[in-house]
Amino acid sequence: MSNEPPTRSVSVTTAPSRRPARMLPAMIERVGPDDLEYDPVPRFERRMAELLGKPAAVMFPSGTMAQQVALRIHADRRGIRSVAFHPRCHLEVHEHKGYAAVHGLVAALVGDGFSLITLADLAELREPIAALLLELPQRDIGGQLPGWEDLVAQTGWARERGAAVHLDGARLWEAQPFYDRPHAEIAALFDTVYVSLYKGLMGISGAMLAGEQDVIDHARVWRDRLGGNVDRCWPLVLPAERGLAELMPRMAEFADRARSLAAALAALPGVHVVPDPPQTPMFHLHLDAGQRAVTVAVQRLRAETGLALPRYVWPTDSPDRCGLEITVSEQLDEVDDAEVADLVAELIRRTRDQSSSDSSSISPSIA
Ligand SMILES: Cc1ncc(COP(=O)(O)O)c(C=O)c1O
Repeated sequence: MSNEPPTRSVSVTTAPSRRPARMLPAMIERVGPDDLEYDPVPRFERRMAELLGKPAAVMFPSGTMAQQVALRIHADRRGIRSVAFHPRCHLEVHEHKGYAAVHGLVAALVGDGFSLITLADLAELREPIAALLLELPQRDIGGQLPGWEDLVAQTGWARERGAAVHLDGARLWEAQPFYDRPHAEIAALFDTVYVSLYKGLMGISGAMLAGEQDVIDHARVWRDRLGGNVDRCWPLVLPAERGLAELMPRMAEFADRARSLAAALAALPGVHVVPDPPQTPMFHLHLDAGQRAVTVAVQRLRAETGLALPRYVWPTDSPDRCGLEITVSEQLDEVDDAEVADLVAELIRRTRDQSSSDSSSISPSIA
């Protein structure tokens, strides 16, 4: 690798694409006369409801709030506190168990946490549940997706027992090409559907919850109770609309690119792709290297090359293996697979050199 200072800043993660410097010009370019005269929030709620084939949709500040509210409503209506989900789903791992602390819900964890939920796992549930939550794709295991028949069987299983079915569709936009069916056909398997306004759409923040009119009206009450009214948060809508127009139609292309990139990376020693091949534009890399050494090498490579790998590197059960998440979107238009593979090869090489050296001199300013 050259010693020249970087002349560009390209990221293999999507986070930098959401920085104001990149987003604001794109937003301003797209602002039409309607955006200046009318509040785009109700317009976008209607559009989302239509796209997802549901009678109504309500915007939330976050998916975290939207999903907890959806599950709470399903639980209150059935008089059952238990809700079933995967042990590594967002609610269980990343929300400080808000479903229990805020809403008094009880988790019925399904499956082993290392693979997708199966119908056989559901059959082992021994307690009544108010709702089954399925996350498509299951992010923490690399963005895996069940086949269509399996999805139909699992959602049918829950409905036959009187439970609601809720979709964590944070990455439904990314999952849809795998099923090759309209969003509304996938959403029809679920009573309530949450989609993200920022992840694949590269928006600022925000979420949409879609479902039957009475459930969504009820969700508005809970949203207000929790201080989550975003009725005037039009700046969240504009980049999400941009994402819907420009990025959603490219999701199949991004998933293909994820597969070609993953093949180039899987050919490197010490690199494992999960799942292999990827099913969506998002996948995980497991590296035969320690978390700390990889974190340091990612920072240094970024400062030197201007090409950024994800900053978040997580440890695994083994001290010699760590994980990071790759998401293909428009930001990768600027680099080819070979360049990214060279970067990861260099990363692995450095972690081997570095593993014995002191890494505490790295400045957080280049993080
Ligand atoms: C699968 C999944 N569900 C839900 C969420 C929560 O979304 P938010 O950040 O809008 O609260 C996330 C966020 O990363 C997620 O990845």
